Amino acid sequence: MAVDAREDAYARLAVFWRHRSIRHYLPEPIPPEHVEWMLLAAQRASTDATAQMYSFIRVTDPALRDRIATWSGNQEHIRTCAEFFVVCLDVYRLRRLVEHRGGVFDMGPRVALLFGIIDAALAAENLALAAELLGYGVCFIGGIQAQADRLARELTLPAGVLPLCGLCVGVPDPTKVPDRPRPRVPLQAVVHENSYRPYTANDLEACYEHMQAIAPQGDWYAILRRYFAAGGFMARREAVVARAWQQQGLDPCPSDAQEE
Ligand SMILES: Cc1cc2nc3c(=O)[nH]c(=O)nc-3n(C[C@H](O)[C@H](O)[C@H](O)COP(=O)(O)O)c2cc1C
Repeated sequence: MAVDAREDAYARLAVFWRHRSIRHYLPEPIPPEHVEWMLLAAQRASTDATAQMYSFIRVTDPALRDRIATWSGNQEHIRTCAEFFVVCLDVYRLRRLVEHRGGVFDMGPRVALLFGIIDAALAAENLALAAELLGYGVCFIGGIQAQADRLARELTLPAGVLPLCGLCVGVPDPTKVPDRPRPRVPLQAVVHENSYRPYTANDLEACYEHMQAIAPQGDWYAILRRYFAAGGFMARREAVVARAWQQQGLDPCPSDAQEE
């Protein structure tokens, strides 16, 4: 490819190279038409069998925002961003649509979870990209899973609707935008050709080396251990996630869910 064409392609993708999760926002609102365009852009995402198995709950009540921020590990950016959405998997609307025309809805929880999560994630990422293209900053919030069952009740989500993540959108505080994007593992680590290639010790070391910049004082393993090793955040979430799935009628293994 000629140098000009390469530079042109690189420049067209600028929104991706600019991306950083934004956790500090100016107290400025987003004009309603921008909010509407972001949401319309979200709806343009591809969707399995045209079903659109997601809903966004736009949280405008400051007291409710405050509670969600507290339940999500006291994440201040949930309180301070201009717009906050709870991204939900939604097969309730689909059931209603099928039943409305006299059909008997027949979608098990495994299929609902699989396709609903894909649909919702694609729409949410479209929303985030649209926001970034309009000059706003975004931050996804998986922390809502810490009390997902309570959040679902608070938002009066019916059976078939499950909160997946939050999304903060707002005007970034320019003094607190990270100056460098966070690293990623090498491209070769996430792309396989024709068949899955197992990882050698060298491949794994290369991942740690690429990710070193994320924790200049320590190393990436300290983060992975905090979240994903025995006793980490994710292990603690398993029970609450099981409860939320059961409460929302979407648990494929209901016996796993325990009372609080
Ligand atoms: C599903 C998901 C959940 C996340 N949860 C949180 C969160 O609860 N709080 C937060 O500050 N950032 C959260 N993030 C943002 C990640 O920390 C961030 O994307 C990652 O560190 C890479 O940084 P970057 O987005 O700046 O490139 C989440 C991202 C995703 C995709």
